[in-house]
Amino acid sequence: MENKEQEIKAPTIIAPPSGGRGVHVFAPATVANVVCGFDVLGFAVNEPGDEVIMRLTNKPGITISKITGDDGRLPLDPAKNTVSVSVQHYLQSVGRTDVGLDIELHKKMPIGSGLGSSSASTVAGLYAIKTLLDDDADPAKLLPFAMKGEEMACGHGHADNVAPALLGGFVLIRSYDPLDVIRLPHPAGLYCAIVFPDVDVPTREARQIIRQKINMKDAVTQWGNIAGLVSGLFMQDIDLIGRSMKDILVEPVRSMLIPDFYKMREIAMGMGAISFGISGSGPSVFAFTKDEETAKLITQKLQQHLTSIKIGSNIYVSTINDAGPKVLG
Ligand code: HSE
Repeated sequence: MENKEQEIKAPTIIAPPSGGRGVHVFAPATVANVVCGFDVLGFAVNEPGDEVIMRLTNKPGITISKITGDDGRLPLDPAKNTVSVSVQHYLQSVGRTDVGLDIELHKKMPIGSGLGSSSASTVAGLYAIKTLLDDDADPAKLLPFAMKGEEMACGHGHADNVAPALLGGFVLIRSYDPLDVIRLPHPAGLYCAIVFPDVDVPTREARQIIRQKINMKDAVTQWGNIAGLVSGLFMQDIDLIGRSMKDILVEPVRSMLIPDFYKMREIAMGMGAISFGISGSGPSVFAFTKDEETAKLITQKLQQHLTSIKIGSNIYVSTINDAGPKVLG
């Protein structure tokens, strides 16, 4: 599908912007890059995720009345918050700047974790306004607005977190200009073990340390692996997926920001993971496994290891979330 902001039409069914009607939306965390696919691959997980409660008000404009779970790190100023800014772009695009909104953002996942924290919030906000305005357009049409939120959060409007958060499942960004986003199949029963070591790795900084030029030999290795991973997803070939998930471009640099990254890989692979790598820009790491039990054991073992080097962590086990955002009430 191709998306361009200017192609977005006004919603066909529009609710009156009054009466305090509200909606409560969850949007999922995401694993971007999927090791070899820097900025072009990502998938959604079932947990963690963020929640937005949005209410229509009688006064045009957006307010943010409450943010929880952020330790005071996120701005309540609607001109500075990624959720309100992306929602404002959407309202302008559909010609509904007359709408009044109040937003509550409930962070249910760590910020700066490499799990698409800003994307989950932004997508929850956009899905909430789409629901409130009864906009029955394809959710993919919200993608350019979500990318504006990413641009604001980390200086670059990549789509490999927002696209899977919005569409669910495993997603390929085939092209950014024009935007061309493709939902990929994946084998059922693929489990994802996620460990977030509690160290701060802001995406903005993790992008600045990456090499800007690569040589042809490395490029050939990398695109071979990306093609191998996508083929493995289509062919439901777990071994091909596993052996393709190698990154010689970004991981060697970013792994330096993650405590005991290579030791964690050794532990996970030794326990039966089919692959292991950095989630997004880190510091979270993830492993694919063929079953839930192995994923649970790996997260527990990695958490124990991090504890032994005095680093706290959060752990999650999930299948790939094909549903994307959902209305909770
Ligand atoms: N593709 C982005 C990056 C994802 O690696 O910087 C950030 O979560």
